Amino acid sequence: MKKKFLQTPATFVDKNIMLTNLRNIQKKADECGKQLWPMIKTHKSLGIARMQYDLGATGFLAGTLDECEALCEEGYENIMYAYPVADEPGCRRVVSLAKKCNFIIRLDTFEGAMRLNEHARKAGIKVQYTIILNSGGNRFGYTAGEITAFAERLKPFSQLVFMGISTHPGHIYTCKDPKELYKYIEDEKTAIKEAVEKLTAAGYDLKIVSTGSTPAFEGETRMEYVNILHPGVYVFNDCLQSSISGIPYESCALYIYTTVISSPKQGLYICDAGSKCIGLDKGAHGNSLMDTYGYIKEHDELELFSLSEEVGKIRVKAGKSTNIKVGDRLEIIPNHACSAANLTGCYFVTEGENITNVIKNDMRSNSTLKNYYV
Ligand SMILES: Cc1ncc(COP(=O)(O)O)c(C=O)c1O
Repeated sequence: MKKKFLQTPATFVDKNIMLTNLRNIQKKADECGKQLWPMIKTHKSLGIARMQYDLGATGFLAGTLDECEALCEEGYENIMYAYPVADEPGCRRVVSLAKKCNFIIRLDTFEGAMRLNEHARKAGIKVQYTIILNSGGNRFGYTAGEITAFAERLKPFSQLVFMGISTHPGHIYTCKDPKELYKYIEDEKTAIKEAVEKLTAAGYDLKIVSTGSTPAFEGETRMEYVNILHPGVYVFNDCLQSSISGIPYESCALYIYTTVISSPKQGLYICDAGSKCIGLDKGAHGNSLMDTYGYIKEHDELELFSLSEEVGKIRVKAGKSTNIKVGDRLEIIPNHACSAANLTGCYFVTEGENITNVIKNDMRSNSTLKNYYV
């Protein structure tokens, strides 16, 4: 089917760009001898997880328990959950996952660990965990100086098995200049080295030292001790990656296909893709680095400056002119691909002007209602 026959708005993924992104990162991970367990919260799709696995990913990092369960049901063995649990349903689901696959959870509170230990004890199983290292993101976890003391506190929990440490340098998303990226990567590298050396000196055996983020990926491939990498957004890339890492728009696989449906006055256009399709993000991790809501491909003269739920407002930049008119189709690269991806039920896969496949976005939260019962 030709793209032009599809009703807009629609979320497209350019097949060749996505495959190139997937292959590049897998190749780099292979070359440095580290395992790739991609963070799949970006695409939330079993179809894309399969591509990552077929290219060489040996495990996955998930952003929700729904994703973990979907991956487990699909038969994948190595599954890590990125965040701690602290409630009864969370502990129950973790215990159930630990029975079925090589499951690893990340922990950073004594209370959460205690609850999980109790659930695991009742079920008669062990749960593997890594401790979250704070490598500068100041979201979860302990600094390299604090981490051994936390590991010691968890030692009495007979059902919890220490596997190592995990981190994510989320603060890299505050970087405003690709030339400054190395500073964030240096924080991450130093924190990991110190944490590993302190824990090892205290007698801990670290089977897993894992980290990951697309902007830091190159640096992470060279990091001492790290054996598992978890980049996520590299599968699609987006305007944010372009602004902080200098990734060209030509490497952005995910884009929104939209129609210009109105032009209330000269220089102002309304398209049929709004916040429910593109997402309101102006950055990631709560940052607001971008001025507009996406990049309009092949129309450098235009800016998407405002979104309401179903439509977006586009204006011509000062001093520029445009030839677009009502009825034209536009292609918009979102600021944050993870958010835009979460707003669609499927990706239309494009090759040139053709739609050649549809990939379901089948791991979104509560999309299966498997965890809901009364
Ligand atoms: C814990 C964790 N690990 C890995 C990633 C992947 O990072 P990126 O999206 O920069 O590739 C994320 C993304 O937010 C994350 O939260």
